[in-house]
Amino acid sequence: MNVDVGTIDLGDLGLDRGGHLLIKRALRGLPVGGQLDVHGRHPELAVHLRGWCRSEGHPVRFFTDVDAGGAIARITRGPAETGRWRGALAAGAADPAVAGAVVDRPSPRWGLAARGAKVEQGSPAFDFPIVAKEVVWADEAAALYAQAAAAQWDPATAVDWTAPITHPDEIEDTVVQVMTFLIENETAALIVPASFLARIHPHFREVLQLLAIQAADEARHIEVFTRRALLLRKDLGLSTAGGQESLKTLLEEPDFALAFFLLSILGEGSFLSLLWFLHENAPDPVTRQVARLAAQDEARHVAFGLAHLRRHLDADPALRPRLAAAVKERHDALADTAGLNEEVFDALVVLAAGSWDHAAIASGYERVVKLQSDMDQARRGRLLRLGFAESEAEALSALHTRNFM
Ligand SMILES: [Fe+2]
Ligand SMILES: [Fe+2]
Repeated sequence: MNVDVGTIDLGDLGLDRGGHLLIKRALRGLPVGGQLDVHGRHPELAVHLRGWCRSEGHPVRFFTDVDAGGAIARITRGPAETGRWRGALAAGAADPAVAGAVVDRPSPRWGLAARGAKVEQGSPAFDFPIVAKEVVWADEAAALYAQAAAAQWDPATAVDWTAPITHPDEIEDTVVQVMTFLIENETAALIVPASFLARIHPHFREVLQLLAIQAADEARHIEVFTRRALLLRKDLGLSTAGGQESLKTLLEEPDFALAFFLLSILGEGSFLSLLWFLHENAPDPVTRQVARLAAQDEARHVAFGLAHLRRHLDADPALRPRLAAAVKERHDALADTAGLNEEVFDALVVLAAGSWDHAAIASGYERVVKLQSDMDQARRGRLLRLGFAESEAEALSALHTRNFM
């Protein structure tokens, strides 16, 4: 018996209702040139077989005298299917821990294909401008994404929105002002990763996932700060020109490394200190809770910034002076703006004071001055971790925007 002749009986099943899947499957079990005898009772079987075999590139011969139950046609397996996938490229490998899984420069033709998929030749080229692994990648991305996914909290239930707020109206004014400032900054922190996300080659899947969940974190921060501001009031506070000028420079930075250096290392790093300060000093439990929840998320955002920038700096030490130049340029660009956000500084003092008592104001003032020095210390520490010299770290931290973000 010829091992290359197979048989399939479709019974009543026609090619109009999935019969072709069974034929395809049977042909796949045969070598190119192998033959398949098709039996079946569907009245249109011969017509449909003729069309299908033509479109799939399989020669077919019909039997004229078909006995009851005999084969109505013999299909010879054509080379089309193997030919189509010959030359297909494996787009890396799914598991990033496998050597070579994440390549340095993924092909534009891998496009949206899952990493590790086999990509048919002739797939369209996509224009993802960010394709360099050293620019975006961090081995920590997958773990940070998993942490973030596990740590998502529901603003409706994670905060006790009914906790008592007993402080005077004027103190509430300062809380609303600080929330207004936070919302504006969180909006910048949402837009920057979201805009880069759409430009990164999807081969770097874990980075896309992490930036997406980071944007979702910021969406929740915006929500809880807005909700806190409106808890007792109908209106928000002031937005300053200087604050917006500062954030605008972040949104306008087109370079991935520079943007995340300014946003995550310097900006979100400073915000971490601010949020923990609010957690400890805010006059009511709701404000303390929303600040803590946001701070926990921000720590991951800073961690990812440190991880990909450290890797990038290892691969390209010339990046370090570019990072330093970006801080100086931003400082110069903002030199003519009011810079110091008086409304926020004053609001923080009164918020920390909790009353207009002289001693309380003096203590609030001291704590805000200490907050600024804590921010500076923390920024310098992160700059040292990125390999900057002590003196350089000190100088760059001092040049960081007084808007905090
Ligand atoms: Fe945030
Ligand atoms: Fe953030």
